[in-house]
Amino acid sequence: MSEGRWHGRLTARPLPDGPIDAPLSDDDRALVVQAWLGRSAAERRAGDSFLVIRDALLARHEPTPLVELATRAIDDEHRHAEICRVVASRYAGRELSAPGELTLSVPLHEGAAPELRHSLHVIGQCALNETAASAFLEACLGRAEVSLVRAALRELLSDEIDHARIGWAHLAAANVEHKRALAPWLPKLVRGYEQEWSRSFRAAAAEGPLGARRPRGT
Ligand SMILES: [Fe+2]
Ligand SMILES: [Fe+2]
Repeated sequence: MSEGRWHGRLTARPLPDGPIDAPLSDDDRALVVQAWLGRSAAERRAGDSFLVIRDALLARHEPTPLVELATRAIDDEHRHAEICRVVASRYAGRELSAPGELTLSVPLHEGAAPELRHSLHVIGQCALNETAASAFLEACLGRAEVSLVRAALRELLSDEIDHARIGWAHLAAANVEHKRALAPWLPKLVRGYEQEWSRSFRAAAAEGPLGARRPRGT
């Protein structure tokens, strides 16, 4: 059983202590708590996704270091879920339970032969989703001011970059024949992830910036 990246510890360095004294209204604070709890649930689901990725890499006879990185990623995502729960708790000012588990729905890639389906899982989750997640976290880090939030984002980002590398390494190592077979599937795959990310950005934008939102129930 793997001890994970930090040998059983949650983070590389302890997260900063102390109360969060960001000037937030009660409504905004509740929204921040919900955002981090939602992130926690999504990270937990990403752990399930890496079970699929590990098995896909094994099925494709990928080298051991890549399979080990995907195995580590399962633990990484569980740590991320806990980091996000800790941040939510600190904003809430009390210890919160882990959110309910989200169910993973694995893309079907209907019509793709099994060896292509395995690669499409790896490319979709790692090369596309984790690369987009890394860019998103980097942008968040660029704007974050609270030391706990900056530390949490840094922890997540350092792992997501490795998770993205799994996808690019898999793609780089594929032979020409496999790459040719994958090519027709890629535009739809890219569009799917682009739409998913755009949808979540639109939903966040519709909420408006903190402090400018209408009180709940209005
Ligand atoms: Fe993560
Ligand atoms: Fe990840």
